[in-house]
Amino acid sequence: MNIALATFSLLPDGSDDVQDLIGALAAEGAAAEPVVWDADVDWSRRDLVVICSTWDYTARRDEFAAWAESLPRVLNSAAIVRWNTDKRYLRDLADAGVPVVPTLWDPDDIPSQWPEYVIKPAVSVGAGDTARWGPGEEDAARAHLRSLREAGRTAMVQPYLSAVDTAGETALVFLDGEYSHAGRKAQILTAGAGVQGSVWGDPTRGKVTASTATEAELELAARALAAVPHGDDLLYARVDMIPGPDGAPMLIELELTEPALYLRHAPGSAERLAKAIISRVR
Ligand SMILES: Nc1ncnc2c1ncn2[C@@H]1O[C@H](COP(=O)(O)OP(=O)(O)OP(=O)(O)O)[C@@H](O)[C@H]1O
Ligand SMILES: [Mg+2]
Repeated sequence: MNIALATFSLLPDGSDDVQDLIGALAAEGAAAEPVVWDADVDWSRRDLVVICSTWDYTARRDEFAAWAESLPRVLNSAAIVRWNTDKRYLRDLADAGVPVVPTLWDPDDIPSQWPEYVIKPAVSVGAGDTARWGPGEEDAARAHLRSLREAGRTAMVQPYLSAVDTAGETALVFLDGEYSHAGRKAQILTAGAGVQGSVWGDPTRGKVTASTATEAELELAARALAAVPHGDDLLYARVDMIPGPDGAPMLIELELTEPALYLRHAPGSAERLAKAIISRVR
């Protein structure tokens, strides 16, 4: 077996997940190695490409999606990659009745209905070009919104869900269609900080701890996953949610492309994913 775990050039050995997965695959007798997605390599030699830590495609999403489409075999599928790398997919999920964080798409001005709000691009990894704004910051918030729109990017504006400050953001990880484990990510956006860079490589922001999913969280995740177009054969999924104003979880993101899966926080999860990968190759 010749499995490629796709990563990006700043992390040529892959993320923690990739390292753990290589070990778990080796224990099952399967050879896997990290490969930089935009390197000049012969992908046709691979039995399977699993997209893992390809965290640099935001400015070239088309190129990235076309690369996925060019691969003989990739998971999750290229159709999923195309759909899931632009957060406009959240509209499909909201239309299907999934409780999604309320979102204004490409508004002409900053919102007046929310005291604190988040402005972020629809194509993003690691909270890049994302900011939390509040009273007294109108000029800077308008400039942020304008800069995204002038760059031709789709801008999203959402209420700042303040429960993230206490409860954090919960991520439910599904492997091969089954719920596996949960992680809790600490709040990332600091009030008054303005537009912040990507959290990638900054361990002080968004620290992750192991968590246990509640019934309400599991139910939201199941509804979100059921609404994914062509989503019946996902190798992995991460469903991110934050409690809304009434305490019920709201979907912030459904990561089907290159999520950190927090395997290191959940004993046995790397082994489960490795077995799922091997059964797909066979
Ligand atoms: N509406 C919101 N309310 C509160 N916090 C938010 C909101 N939107 C984003 N955030 C914070 O910003 C982080 C990044 O936002 P989001 O997950 O939407 O984008 P991303 O760039 O895809 O991030 P990542 O790849 O790290 O998951 C979230 O993990 C959360 O901490
Ligand atoms: Mg996120």
